[in-house]
Amino acid sequence: MRKPLIAGNWKMNASRNDALALATTVAQAPRLANADVVIFPPFLWLEAVARAISGSNLGLGGQDCSAEDRGAYTGQISAPMLTELCDWVIVGHSERRRDAAESDALVGRKARAALLAGLRPIVCVGEAIDARESGRHEHVVGGQVEAVLAEVSDIDTSTLVWAYEPIWAIGTGRSASPSDAQAMAAYIRSKTRSQLGEDVRILYGGSVVPENATTYLSEPDVDGLLVGGASLKADQFLAIIEAC
Ligand code: PGA
Repeated sequence: MRKPLIAGNWKMNASRNDALALATTVAQAPRLANADVVIFPPFLWLEAVARAISGSNLGLGGQDCSAEDRGAYTGQISAPMLTELCDWVIVGHSERRRDAAESDALVGRKARAALLAGLRPIVCVGEAIDARESGRHEHVVGGQVEAVLAEVSDIDTSTLVWAYEPIWAIGTGRSASPSDAQAMAAYIRSKTRSQLGEDVRILYGGSVVPENATTYLSEPDVDGLLVGGASLKADQFLAIIEAC
């Protein structure tokens, strides 16, 4: 039985005060034990948020990490640095693939760096609208998945989580249908089964709101949700946690 995972990606949002207030509210949610619940605030607030939620069941993570452990990489944050404040990290989010030109291979190296440092990586994959409309979505996502698998073939991958986030569904209000999310999750599971086993968790992300959360969670291969916009509103995020 795979434990549900609800992840809140705050992106570049929330002042320090807003971050502390939101994190404190979520940390007091009555149903936190039903799932792994993890928030991903901006790097700058991680230390203060870690202190605010210490002793609770709420998990904490960074929104990205470097593929390198240390050195002349201005502006980057390494996985070993993150381990001093949190247990989780998102890698390969489509906004980083787009804005920082992150390749499939670099995302694989980041996942490797995260795993070797002892972080639990949520590795994002997903196709653009043209790939979906031309029926190439499995080909695109399959390539992204293979690039990561190639980088982690010789290390312990038991904490790796996939997040299927179709780019056209992120922040658009146009969520994927539960059956499309299920079909892609099943495809990712079948592609990764021989290397990662049956128990790897696969999330859906893209315009998740309280109203559609249960429709994804009822699909057999969807083990949780990666939530953007709705994770910034305490009442919405709490309602999504309740859906577990
Ligand atoms: P959204 O973002 O829920 O606002 O669509 C999801 C994500 O980017 O992880």
